[in-house]
Amino acid sequence: MAGSLAEPDPAVVTALRAAGCVYAEQEAALLEEESRDGRDLPLMLTRRLSGEPLEQVLGWAEFCGLRIKLTPGVFVPRKRTEELVELAVKLASTLEDPPVVVDLCCGTGAIGVAVASSVPGTALHAADIDPDAVACARLNVTGGQVHEGDLYDALPTGLRGRVDLLLVNAPYVPTDEIRLMPAEARQHEHHVALDGGVDGVEIHRRVAAGASQWLAPGGSLLIETSRHQATDTALACEAAGLQAEVFGPDDQGMTVVRAISGPWHSSGTMTR
Ligand SMILES: C[S@@+](CC[C@H](N)C(=O)[O-])C[C@H]1O[C@@H](n2cnc3c(N)ncnc32)[C@H](O)[C@@H]1O
Repeated sequence: MAGSLAEPDPAVVTALRAAGCVYAEQEAALLEEESRDGRDLPLMLTRRLSGEPLEQVLGWAEFCGLRIKLTPGVFVPRKRTEELVELAVKLASTLEDPPVVVDLCCGTGAIGVAVASSVPGTALHAADIDPDAVACARLNVTGGQVHEGDLYDALPTGLRGRVDLLLVNAPYVPTDEIRLMPAEARQHEHHVALDGGVDGVEIHRRVAAGASQWLAPGGSLLIETSRHQATDTALACEAAGLQAEVFGPDDQGMTVVRAISGPWHSSGTMTR
């Protein structure tokens, strides 16, 4: 996360270590660097010691080598999601024209921003139901549009049938398992960012059900899921008339379902 940072104040390191921060030295250095000549340090330290995620205290998270602005309560982009971005960039490179990309359930907008930063000309739309996430995404999505609302309800109707890449990291934690998550997530990320319903796949089913109305012919839906939920996520896509394929899990357990919209050749390959 850090480049070359100054030696941190040992008292700050000690306080962080006592609070259970594993990377206390690195965290101390980052907090000091971010704290405007030390003026904000006491408040930032208090927030961190009370269990707020480091990224929310700093006001940014590193994602795909970018600094993504982050505001309190908004989901902290996870390292594992970088795999979904990598896959999206690969798919974009096979298209003739710059892609229309939708980052649905966008949180900070990290996924869409990372793809757009690697794929020149991307027409980016990001959307989220949480007003705090939408406000945060608007700080990050400077070359695209951010919409607020429930899944596809948020999108301009002019995007119907035109989306090349529909990128989704929706909540997928089963409701009953939220209590098992680390306190940093449970207490400092909004519940709506975590709760995937009874089996964790409820939002995936809704995303899959609506996808074909929005995808361009041959367009791809990429959904981050988990090793255990991948089959159900893929089945939801197939039930919605898409052709699904599971990528992963990788070393970090990250799994992505890619679901492609028809029309199809008889061989099952796409028309473009
Ligand atoms: C797990 S977070 C992921 C955020 C972001 N995609 C990322 O990877 O950092 C899920 C996001 O989905 C949003 N969300 C939950 N339900 C939604 C819905 N019905 N419509 C739109 N967004 C929703 C939450 O507000 C949250 O920002």
